[in-house]
Amino acid sequence: MIEIKEISAVQTYAVRLEVLRKGIDLPVHFVGDTAKNTFHLGVFEDNVLVTVASFMKTTNLLFSKEQYQLRGMATLPASRGKGYGKKLLVEAIMLLENKQLEVLWCNARETALTFYLKLDFQIKGEPFEIKNIGKHFLLYKVLNQKIQPTF
Ligand SMILES: CC(C)(COP(=O)(O)OP(=O)(O)OC[C@H]1O[C@@H](n2cnc3c(N)ncnc32)[C@H](O)[C@@H]1OP(=O)(O)O)[C@@H](O)C(=O)NCCC(=O)NCCS
Repeated sequence: MIEIKEISAVQTYAVRLEVLRKGIDLPVHFVGDTAKNTFHLGVFEDNVLVTVASFMKTTNLLFSKEQYQLRGMATLPASRGKGYGKKLLVEAIMLLENKQLEVLWCNARETALTFYLKLDFQIKGEPFEIKNIGKHFLLYKVLNQKIQPTF
């Protein structure tokens, strides 16, 4: 049985650690994890948390004011390719659109680029390096298409 629900920052840590921090000397917690407007979603497969992602209100000047950043998108290896990451993002996008947000953006690893492009994210600018992790792309998705984004 598959269930998507809101989870706490602390609940994301085990999946983040396994998927995003293995052999990488970076903290498992993010600045903003417990901020008032941050929320975290998890996909549970037979009551086991297998996919996580975090959504944080941001003020990146490259985008409009009504924006959120996606961080810590991760599915445990054994549960990949089953549509869980996509399901979680579709749910998050619906929640953000209900809050009248205009843009969801993220710094995406090159290895996950296709995942985001399939969900209609667009590339902004040139790829860049993040120390200890590698090449990244700044990606964004316009929400609420009927609202004209201000960038
Ligand atoms: C990227 C990631 C979160 C995707 O999660 P997932 O639950 O396996 O994704 P889904 O099964 O919902 O995939 C949705 C679609 O994207 C494709 N896809 C998923 N990950 C992909 C990848 N790394 N490269 C290419 N395509 C990918 C799937 O094949 C599927 O395509 P389809 O709709 O045509 O069938 C997962 O692979 C992961 O945790 N990767 C390692 C950590 C990582 O890179 N996170 C992103 C950091 S920016």
